[in-house]
Amino acid sequence: MAILKIARMGHPTLMRIADPISDARAPAVQQLVADMIDTMVDAPGIGLAAPQVHVPLRIVVFRVPDERGEDGEGVPLTVLINPEIEPLDDEMETGIEGCLSLPGMAGMVPRHTRIRYRATGLDGEVFERTVEGYHARVVQHECDHLDGILYPMRMTDLSTLGYAEEMSKSAEAGYNDDEDDGDSEPHEAIDEQ
Ligand code: NI
Repeated sequence: MAILKIARMGHPTLMRIADPISDARAPAVQQLVADMIDTMVDAPGIGLAAPQVHVPLRIVVFRVPDERGEDGEGVPLTVLINPEIEPLDDEMETGIEGCLSLPGMAGMVPRHTRIRYRATGLDGEVFERTVEGYHARVVQHECDHLDGILYPMRMTDLSTLGYAEEMSKSAEAGYNDDEDDGDSEPHEAIDEQ
């Protein structure tokens, strides 16, 4: 078990295009994935991409807890090697995101609502999933890390970028009750990934 150091925004490895993996079953890949899972669980995070642990390779790990999934159903621990994403339509959804590489911060990020993704698993087999909502958001966030993109680069309203702790304080104080959608979701639990 190894907990790896997480790179923060500004580190060059987070800004580059990561390299593809040629053999998913190589021992070095298996070891890196095991260490990434340990690091994600320790953080704790919902997901983690290899560039976040200073390794410029196209590997993502994530899991969605039941309470964060659609209809109370999460996604078990998933390893994506060389993932590819295809949006299924033009519909976008804006939701709050946090990132282990911008600790303590959160912002509202538009993402495709429905996507199909394809990746190689640790067993070397290619698999494909059609997903939506939070699952789709997590995968888009993580795969962006493989292309040097951090969530603030996807934001359309930077006034919603801030420290999660301050946001939850102002939500408690009622500063956010002018939101037009009437959705008074508290910001106290921002998932970092
Ligand atoms: Ni992230």
